[in-house]
Amino acid sequence: MGAETQTTDSRTDGAGARDTLSVTDNRTGRTYELPIVDGTVRGLDLRQIKVSDDDFGLMSYDPGYANVASCRSAVTYLDGEAGILQYRGYPIEQLAERSTYLEVAYLLIHGELPTTVQLEEWRHEITIHTFVHENVKDFMQGFWHDAHPMGMLLGSVGALSTFYPDANEIGDPENRYMQTIRLIAKMPTLAAFAFRHIKGQPYVYPDNDLNYAGNFLSLMYKMTELKYEPDPRLERALDVLFILHADHEQNCSTSAVRGVGSSRVDPYSAVAAGVAALYGPLHGGANEAVLRMLKRIERKENIPDFLKGVEEGKERLMGFGHRVYKNFDPRATIIKAAAEDVFEVTGARNPLLDVALELEKIALGDEYFIAHKLYPNVDFYSGLIYEALGLPVEMFPVMFAIGRTSGWIANWLEQVQDPEQRIARPRQIYTGDRDREYVAIEQRG
Ligand code: CMC
Repeated sequence: MGAETQTTDSRTDGAGARDTLSVTDNRTGRTYELPIVDGTVRGLDLRQIKVSDDDFGLMSYDPGYANVASCRSAVTYLDGEAGILQYRGYPIEQLAERSTYLEVAYLLIHGELPTTVQLEEWRHEITIHTFVHENVKDFMQGFWHDAHPMGMLLGSVGALSTFYPDANEIGDPENRYMQTIRLIAKMPTLAAFAFRHIKGQPYVYPDNDLNYAGNFLSLMYKMTELKYEPDPRLERALDVLFILHADHEQNCSTSAVRGVGSSRVDPYSAVAAGVAALYGPLHGGANEAVLRMLKRIERKENIPDFLKGVEEGKERLMGFGHRVYKNFDPRATIIKAAAEDVFEVTGARNPLLDVALELEKIALGDEYFIAHKLYPNVDFYSGLIYEALGLPVEMFPVMFAIGRTSGWIANWLEQVQDPEQRIARPRQIYTGDRDREYVAIEQRG
C-alpha cells in the first residue's frame, strides 16, 4: 500500500500552494493528486482510483446533477448566493430596464449587443420568418379541443424538423443560423395557434408591422378589426417577461436541449426536448401551479393553514425556492414591479395579488422558509401578469418557452461548436439483480 501521486497541470506558488486536490483512498491507503482547473476536478480523473486492477474505478454520484459542471459556457453568469444574473456579462436589471427581447436574443446568440444596423437586420430576419407552413395549421387542428397548449407547442416545434429536413446539417454555420432565426421567429406563432385552438378561434397570421411582443399580442387577441393595435405598456411588460425568461444557465430544460442536442440531432428536436422539460411543474409549469395554489388559498385568512401544510411536508409553496438562488431571485424583484404596471393598464387589480403579497410576507418571516433558504422565484408573480393579460393558466409555461427559446439556442450553438462536448451519457449505480436464470412462463409463481 504505497503512496501514489499523480500530478498533471499543477501550479506551485511561492507558499507551496498548488492547484490540485489530494485524495486518500482509505480502502487502499493510496493518495492521488488531481488537477483543479476552473474550480473543478475532472470526473474522469476519479476513475484511476481503484481497489484492484479489475475495479471499474471511482465515480461520483450526483442525482439531479447538483454539483456537476457539464459544460463550459460564456452565455449566462449566475451567482445564486449573491442573486446575480447576467447575460453575456450584462446585468439582468439593466437589460430588463433598457433593452428589448430581440436585442437580448441577439446578445445571447452572438455574444455582443448589436449596432443599430445589426439590430435592424436581425429584427428584419426574425420578422420575415414568423409565418409557418399552412400544413402546421392542419395538424394543429388534429389536437383535441382541450389539449394542453404546452403539449401542442412541444409537438409542433418538434414537427418543424420535418418541414426543414436540412436542419440536421448542424455542422454548417449558415444552416445553424437559418434554424436559429426560424425558431425565434416561429415560436410565438406556434404558441398563439395553440391558444387559438383551445379557444376554438380561427388562427391569425403574423403582422410584420408590429414588434415581437406586439405581433404576439395580435396573434393571440386579434378578432374582427382590420389591424390589431397593442397597448404599448402591455407590449413592454411582455417584452420584459421574455427578457427575464430568456436564459438561466444550465437549468433543467437547457440541460435537456444540450443533452438531446449532444446526439447531434437537429435543433427543432433538441428544442422540443427543452419544451418537454419546461412543461413539468417543478420547472416552467411552476407559474401555472402558483396560480392554481393562489386560487385554492383564495383569501388571506387561509394562508396560515396552507403554510402549516407546507411545513408538515404535505405540499410545496409553489413559486418559492430555487436550486441555485439561496437569497433572492433577481428576476422576482423585477417581475413584482411589472405586475403592478400591468394591473394599472388592465384596470382591475387581481385580488390574488394581495394573497400573493401576504403569502410572501408571512413566508419570508417564517422559520421553516428562513431555515430552508426559500425565497420567491421568477414564477411567483409572472402568473398574475399572464392572468391579467387574459391568458388561461395552461398558457403560462408556453409564455416561458417563447422567452427561453433564445437561451436554448444560444446554448445549443455553443454546444455543437465545443470540441470538448461528447454525447451525454451518464453512468449509474446498478441496484438490480444479476445473473438470474430465465424461468418459463408456466413455471412462474
Ligand atoms: N416549498 C416548501 N418546501 C420546499 C420548497 C417549497 N417550494 N422548495 C424546497 N423545499 C424544501 C424541501 O422540502 C427540502 O426540505 P428538507 O431538506 O427538509 O427535506 C429542501 O427545501 C430542499 O428542497 P429540494 O427539493 O431538495 O431543493 P431543489 O434544489 O432540488 O429544488 C425547486 C428546487 C425549485 C425544484 C424547489 O425549490 C421547488 O420545488 N420549488 C417549487 C416549484 C417552483 O417554484 N419551481 C420554479 C423554479 S424557478 C423557475 C425555473 O427556473 O424553472
